[in-house]
Amino acid sequence: MKRILSERASQLKPSATLAISAKSKELKSLGVDVIGFGAGEPDFPTPAHIREAAKKSLDNGDTFYTPASGTLDLKKAVIHRFAEDYGLMYEPDEILISCGAKHSLYNVFHAILDPGDEVVILAPYWLSYPEMVALTGAKPVIVDTSEQSRFVPDPARVKAAITSSTKAIVVNSPSNPTGVLYPRDVMEGLAALAEENDLLVISDEIYDKLIYDGKPFIPFASLPGMKDRTVMINGVSKTYAMTGLRIGYLACNRKEIVKASANIQSQSTSNPNNTGQAAAVEALTGPQDEVARMRDIFQRRRDFMTAGIEKIPGLSVVNPDGAFYAFVNTSAFAGRKDVADSTDFTKYLLERHHVACVPGGPFGSEEHIRLSFATGEDVIKEGLERIAKACRELA
Ligand SMILES: Cc1ncc(COP(=O)(O)O)c(C=O)c1O
Repeated sequence: MKRILSERASQLKPSATLAISAKSKELKSLGVDVIGFGAGEPDFPTPAHIREAAKKSLDNGDTFYTPASGTLDLKKAVIHRFAEDYGLMYEPDEILISCGAKHSLYNVFHAILDPGDEVVILAPYWLSYPEMVALTGAKPVIVDTSEQSRFVPDPARVKAAITSSTKAIVVNSPSNPTGVLYPRDVMEGLAALAEENDLLVISDEIYDKLIYDGKPFIPFASLPGMKDRTVMINGVSKTYAMTGLRIGYLACNRKEIVKASANIQSQSTSNPNNTGQAAAVEALTGPQDEVARMRDIFQRRRDFMTAGIEKIPGLSVVNPDGAFYAFVNTSAFAGRKDVADSTDFTKYLLERHHVACVPGGPFGSEEHIRLSFATGEDVIKEGLERIAKACRELA
């Protein structure tokens, strides 16, 4: 019998974050009181004015196809937000609306990569980057960062990884899973490498509005000379708590990249859902005060969670500047009882103490686990107590 699955599909790993939520949901359905630190989404309801816009759009009968690359209204709303927030100007044909930022990334990787091309990815990385790059036949080239340098990349190490086959660098600041924001000089170092080696920068800026302590966000395209090299990826999922409405977008003034990405989309999914697009217009053009309110709550939870982690002997964490994850070093427990690495550590936590966390392996580090603080302080408190107990058992 012929082989059924393609080689690409056989090699693709399922998303570990989605797998852990499934396992924790399964335990919950059996009546187990599971503390969930796995979530990659805000726990707030979508703001009311955004939900109203979605309802209105349905009642208006906007339930049909839209242009495959997204509605002009939404492209204009995206342009408005980038202009207002960052002074970055784009044209409607420089924007592609997709079914989430994940889909934007998928489209653009397929638009720019051929088998044999290489893409530099900085570890720890969001787990979908290497998988998506590999799916195109290109090669993900991982460049490690060190915890001592707060997971901030060293441009000299990035330089050493660049070859004549390198096509792009992926930048994700603030990062999932570390929450770390790259300082300006490091961003400039990466920009210089892009310039010298004629590379594109795929800048995933999905957490740009979830940055704490008033630190400024630097869009990669705003760096000198970088607008021509940057594919800016963003979306409404995290900022406006609307993950399920599945709207993301890319902006790039290399129109051929946007057009090729749009062609891929038009031959695969067609337009992202109509209602989600209407809701996203309201999110981007309506009042923005909910964004600040949610960010402030996330900041308090971050402080609460990191302070709690620091109190647990054996655990340590780099303070996240943004996003809603703490990337916790658990290497002190490697080799204790049945725990060889972070995957075993998360299994131990889930099965024995009913705390769901994501192992660091799929993010490029077996020494860490990822804890999401997109959950209430009472849940964080209880979850950390359980983790402390697990650590005492393992010590
Ligand atoms: C770094 C990063 N990029 C992209 C995404 C995808 O977001 P979306 O829901 O818009 O597809 C996520 C979601 O977890 C993320 O963490």
